[in-house]
Amino acid sequence: MLQYSLLPDDLSRPAAGEKPVILTGDRPTGPLHLGHWIGSLRNRVALQHTHRQFVLIADTQALTDNGDDPGKISRNVLEITIDQLAAGLDPTLTTFCLQSALPALAELTLLYMNLVTVARLERNPTIKDEIQARGFGRDIPAGFLCYPVAQAADITGFRATVVPVGEDQIPMIEQTVEVVRRINRLAGAIVLPEPKALVPTVGRLPGLDGRAKMSKSQGNALALGASPDEIRAAVRRMYTDPDHLRVEDPGKIEGNVVFAWLAAFDEDRDGLRELEARYRHGGLGDATVKRRLEDILQAVLAPIRERRARFAADPGEVAAILARVSETAREITQATLDDVRAAFGLYRLPTVARTIGRP
Ligand code: TRP
Repeated sequence: MLQYSLLPDDLSRPAAGEKPVILTGDRPTGPLHLGHWIGSLRNRVALQHTHRQFVLIADTQALTDNGDDPGKISRNVLEITIDQLAAGLDPTLTTFCLQSALPALAELTLLYMNLVTVARLERNPTIKDEIQARGFGRDIPAGFLCYPVAQAADITGFRATVVPVGEDQIPMIEQTVEVVRRINRLAGAIVLPEPKALVPTVGRLPGLDGRAKMSKSQGNALALGASPDEIRAAVRRMYTDPDHLRVEDPGKIEGNVVFAWLAAFDEDRDGLRELEARYRHGGLGDATVKRRLEDILQAVLAPIRERRARFAADPGEVAAILARVSETAREITQATLDDVRAAFGLYRLPTVARTIGRP
């Protein structure tokens, strides 16, 4: 079941017989959790059958706000790849690419920087929010301010037309479209396609403690590789309705994490609606609802955990998967770079024969 809606209108139609190109990416800053599963991973598993899908491990983008702790990024490259493989992404259908292994993306970024002003970057709503949240002033890393430009390089580098992202990333796609139009105008031809954002229709999965955002650093996340005991413990401590003290009391669904998670995971929609009605009315205890959620989570996570263990036992094979596909990705992104260099009319040096042994 696909949980995405397309913005702003329909899928860009690819040439006959070709699958539309999708690019998504994650910053390798930590292990993936169930919020990622609901928000993106399970959709990627479906999309790999209908699209030519690239998944970028965005390590150079992750450096833009982790320059003081780069080791954290490199440590998480294989981890995040293993998480994706565990989720069911098939390396024969999905192309995983390591951003830092694709120098054409860095060069595209450098060229695009000439088309984007600092004022425009500071107006980007996501950048604006992040600047505020982190208290950046003039001390903002230049790479961080410019990461929307780098993301435009990622998207155009693969000539992606569909970019599945969370709502907070829509401004990045808008800036990419602006860059694409500038390049096409410079080239006097359509050399790059305009991408569209594909945004999940389901809401964000709240953290175990009831906060809107699940994150490992807040300690309110459930990891994709969680053990059966960890799943049980997480459900047990999950925030419900603090006023629902006795079983016979009426309970609230709104803000109740157990029901929010059931809404995301429970496929028996009629059964769930009935359960909600009984909970609201009174006479249904938290323990019963939690048992239902725990059973569902155990069933969803068991195959993911098994696959995870298998890949984690063979990190060399995971690294080899990344290395193999990087070759293909290098060619694709280099071809875009050639077009963009031509659009800028960069001076082309002639090819000259090398004189061996002479300077
Ligand atoms: N900025 C994205 C995030 O933080 C990650 C990302 C990097 C990305 N490059 C991308 C997403 C290209 C989509 C397309 O989640």
